[in-house]
Amino acid sequence: MQIWYTLLPDLHPHLASLSECLSPSERLRAARFSQEKDRLDFILSHGFLRTILGGQLGAPGSAVSWSVGPFGKPHLAEAGHAGAELAFSLSRTSGAAVCAMGRSIPVGIDVERIGPLPDFQELAASVLTPRERGALASLPVSQRERAFQRSWVCKEAILKLEGVGLGVHPGALDAGPGCWVAEPFSLLWEGQRLFLRTFEFAEQYVAALATRSEPSAVQFLRFEGP
Ligand SMILES: CC(C)(COP(=O)(O)OP(=O)(O)OC[C@H]1O[C@@H](n2cnc3c(N)ncnc32)[C@H](O)[C@@H]1OP(=O)(O)O)[C@@H](O)C(=O)NCCC(=O)NCCS
Repeated sequence: MQIWYTLLPDLHPHLASLSECLSPSERLRAARFSQEKDRLDFILSHGFLRTILGGQLGAPGSAVSWSVGPFGKPHLAEAGHAGAELAFSLSRTSGAAVCAMGRSIPVGIDVERIGPLPDFQELAASVLTPRERGALASLPVSQRERAFQRSWVCKEAILKLEGVGLGVHPGALDAGPGCWVAEPFSLLWEGQRLFLRTFEFAEQYVAALATRSEPSAVQFLRFEGP
């Protein structure tokens, strides 16, 4: 299992080569962003994704293609690649992107930028379960926002593993206080055991990985350019 992460400003010198590997539909999506920064972040994130997938599949990034499930989850398998057993999950946020890749092991990943949340109370009331809210209230006030963000990435990672995304309300999913510590943990979701681990990088980002079986080893790799 590999987790690749990248800081998008590091990739600016490679913008030309990363943008060349995008598909026509990705170029159309890029052109639709109204903010230039969002457009660049999208291009760099997808160039990053294609480069590392291409590296695993032994193909140029431009040759990688995937299909998407009913709620948008991308799958290499149905697009007829030789490396069909390779599963991946991409997440991007302002200034960073992460991608988990596993052979024959479905994955879900989510990353968020750590920072103050102006609407923290409303968010917590809306997306945490009563048990999670109770546990959060027992933490010192100074730790609550960070803990909330860790819960949020765990929930999104699970919903992305399952492929449903925010089609399922995150408040329906109790990820528990295991999200708040660095050690891997597991939980039951709809009768299935899921395996999670959170990690932080560059002192600004928190991410979570969710899988359906316990990964034997996880390699963290930083991508600085093609
Ligand atoms: C999946 C989802 C939660 C991600 O939200 P986010 O935190 O804003 O975005 P992230 O950067 O973490 O993840 C985005 C990536 O996840 C992947 N993704 C998209 N939908 C996904 C899904 N249902 N399951 C897993 N992964 C998904 C894509 O690779 C996407 O990258 P892209 O937008 O650059 O193509 C959100 O897009 C969602 O809820 N999608 C479902 C929407 C839906 O129900 N659509 C139905 C009609 S298609």
